[in-house]
Amino acid sequence: MAVERTFSIIKPDATARNLTGAVNALIEKAGLRIVAQKRIRMTREHAETFYAVHKARPFFGELVDFMISGPVVVQVLEGEGAVLRYRDVMGATDPSKAAEGTIRKVHARSIGENSVHGSDAPETAAIEIAQFFSGNEIVG
Ligand code: CMP
Repeated sequence: MAVERTFSIIKPDATARNLTGAVNALIEKAGLRIVAQKRIRMTREHAETFYAVHKARPFFGELVDFMISGPVVVQVLEGEGAVLRYRDVMGATDPSKAAEGTIRKVHARSIGENSVHGSDAPETAAIEIAQFFSGNEIVG
């Protein structure tokens, strides 16, 4: 399988509970390499752009408010089949449906406060990475 990159966000519910290291431990245990990482506060405009695909959904306003409610840690993860591998590590969007041992099963509070985001495809990953990182900030 090819080495690829995916984009990750450790969300405000997780940073508020000091879980950045715990989430990173699960990421690294799964064989993914954190090749870029920074802790930021997203602006409303950035969150609206990032989640534009969900604009028509009833939870859009709540989602944007949540993502700007506290610091987030944005990351680039690298590894074989990184996009799917990270989705496996995260578990289902709804933590009540997530498999045992996944980040969301272990740490998430609800479908909204679900601790992490990961890209859904390599093409999306490239777009999402470019929204937060310049090339020289990613060190593989
Ligand atoms: P994420 O992978 O970041 O992509 C979109 C987010 O929308 C998703 O994780 C959830 O956190 C959020 N989301 C999805 N469904 C709902 C919902 N029914 N209510 C609130 N937030 C939701």
